[in-house]
Order: sequence, then C-alpha cells, then structure tokens
Amino acid sequence: MHTVTIGSTPVPAIGQGTWRLGGDPEQFAAETEALRYGLERGLTLLDTAEMYAGGGAERVVAAALGDSRQKAFIVSKVWPSHADPEALRTSLAASRARLQTEVIDLYLLHWPNRTVPLRDTLWALAEAREHGAIRYLGVSNFSRDLLQAAHSILGPGLIAANQIDYSLLERRAEHSIIPYCRDHGIAVMAYSPLKHLGTLDLQGPGWQALRTVSRRHLLSPHGIALAWLIGQPGIIAIPKAVTRQHIDVNRAAGDLVLTPDDRELLASAFPRAPGEMPVQYF
Ligand SMILES: NC(=O)c1ccc[n+]([C@@H]2O[C@H](COP(=O)([O-])OP(=O)(O)OC[C@H]3O[C@@H](n4cnc5c(N)ncnc54)[C@H](OP(=O)(O)O)[C@@H]3O)[C@@H](O)[C@H]2O)c1
Repeated sequence: MHTVTIGSTPVPAIGQGTWRLGGDPEQFAAETEALRYGLERGLTLLDTAEMYAGGGAERVVAAALGDSRQKAFIVSKVWPSHADPEALRTSLAASRARLQTEVIDLYLLHWPNRTVPLRDTLWALAEAREHGAIRYLGVSNFSRDLLQAAHSILGPGLIAANQIDYSLLERRAEHSIIPYCRDHGIAVMAYSPLKHLGTLDLQGPGWQALRTVSRRHLLSPHGIALAWLIGQPGIIAIPKAVTRQHIDVNRAAGDLVLTPDDRELLASAFPRAPGEMPVQYF
C-alpha cells in the first residue's frame, strides 16, 4: 500500500469515506461491516465529520473499530457554524464521545467560515492539540490564499492536511492548491475521488482511456482513477464504498503503480479546467 505522511505519521494513501453513512438505522449493521471489511484489509484511515448524518457516521466508525481503535487513523471535522472557539470545543468533545476515542488523529475545519475570524478557529484547534484531544489539525476546502492566511497565523508545520475536491474530473486544485501544499508539507486528501465517473460517456475519450489502462492492469476503471490520484506525492484518496467488490478494488488501487504512459494517457483524456476552484463559505 502506498503511504503518505500526515505530520510525522505514515497513513495509507487510500482511506475510507463515510459521507451518507449512519443516517438509516436499518443500514447501520451493513455499513459497520463494510468499514470493518476495509479496515481488515488495510484501509485504516477513516474520514468522517460531525455533519455526516448529524454524527451518525461517527457512530458507525466507532462501531466498526470496536476494540481495534489503535489500528486506525481517524479524521473528523468541525462544521463551520461551530468554528468559534467555544462551539468548537463542544463539537470536538461530542465527536470524541461518538467516536469513543480520547484522541482524534486529525481534526479539520470542514469549510471556511466568513464570520468567525480564522485566527480564533485555528488557535482553538492548536489549543485542542496542546491538550491532547487531537493529534494533528488541518483544514478542508481551503484555497492557496486561505492556506497562506492560516500559515501567517499559526506559522509553518502545524497545518497537517487540506481536504479538497480532487479527481480526474475535477483537477483545478492542481493550479495552485496542490503545489502550495506540496511546498509546505501539507498532505492533500482528495474527496469525492470517483466523482461523476458513472456519468461519463462510455464512448468518450475519458472512459476509453480508463478502459485502456484498466485492461493493462486488470483493475476496474474506478480503481485506475484512484491509482492515478495517489500516484502523486502527498495525495491521499478517501473513496466511500459499502459494496465489498468496490472495497476490494479500492484496496487494490493502493498497491498499483501506473506507468508514465498510463498517467499521460489519463491526464490528456481528463484535461484540467482553467481557473481556480471558487472558495465556498458556509
Ligand atoms: N471535506 C469535504 O467537504 C468533503 C466533501 C465530500 C466528501 N468528503 C469525504 O470524501 C468521501 C468520498 O467522497 P464521496 O462520498 O462524495 O464520493 P466518492 O467516494 O467519490 O463516490 C462514492 C460512490 O462511489 C461508489 N464507489 C466506491 N468505490 C467504487 C468502486 N471501486 N467502483 C465503483 N464505484 C465505487 C460508491 O458505491 P458504494 O457505496 O455502493 O460502494 C458510492 O456510490 C466522503 O464519504 C467523505 O468522507 C469530504
């Protein structure tokens, strides 16, 4: 399995997303089992958030981990409406309780917030780290300018990760966000890494390129799309999957090394759109 270093901790380059898990009690057991299936196969980075099913996804994560907490690297996120220090402390305590863990490995501000000063949120995160409630802190959906602002507040070295929308079909982060992260030792977590692949025209150049590389490596096009992402330094992909066959493919993608020819074929079939990703505030 490819690994990426978050702070000073190596983690698998393929993790497990949990958005849309935990909202339906009838699915709880199946979702728990799916995460556990991935965990047992080395997909030990679990990405969740207080917002997912109002904390329900964090409960699924806790149930999947059972007494294997020490094997996992848990990422959770505070919703921007809880970005002021007091609300953040309350959110963090609630997430730790739902996750049944003393320490969250990586805790992110889920989206930028326009009203709470960034300084207040970042200092609250740094304080949580000093108190041992989180191991690392980070952000999500941050542009290069926002990352620069965060660095000017906290100094270098503390922001461990930026979780962003990044996939073959959404490559705008390559213009400035990913280079900035790479230059400053910030791990990039690619969310929605399989975004819209199912909507591709089966005769179009994108799907045809995926099929070509898929045949070369005997891995499905979705697995190839993941392998393309994590074949770059510092990139972690966090697909959400509850189907065992999907989890097997995602796990296999973690071991695959694409050739330069494969990578070039895919990059030209999925050209990067011009312009920066617009910053969204919640
Ligand atoms: N920070 C943020 O703002 C943010 C935003 C969005 C998402 N996220 C995180 O990123 C995670 C992933 O993003 P996402 O859930 O939007 O989308 P995604 O992982 O790109 O796509 C999920 C869909 O892909 C399917 N799938 C997974 N593996 C597959 C495979 N090998 N072959 C075919 N289909 C496959 C899943 O099906 P099955 O479930 O049926 O297996 C599911 O329908 C989220 O769960 C969440 O943890 C973060």
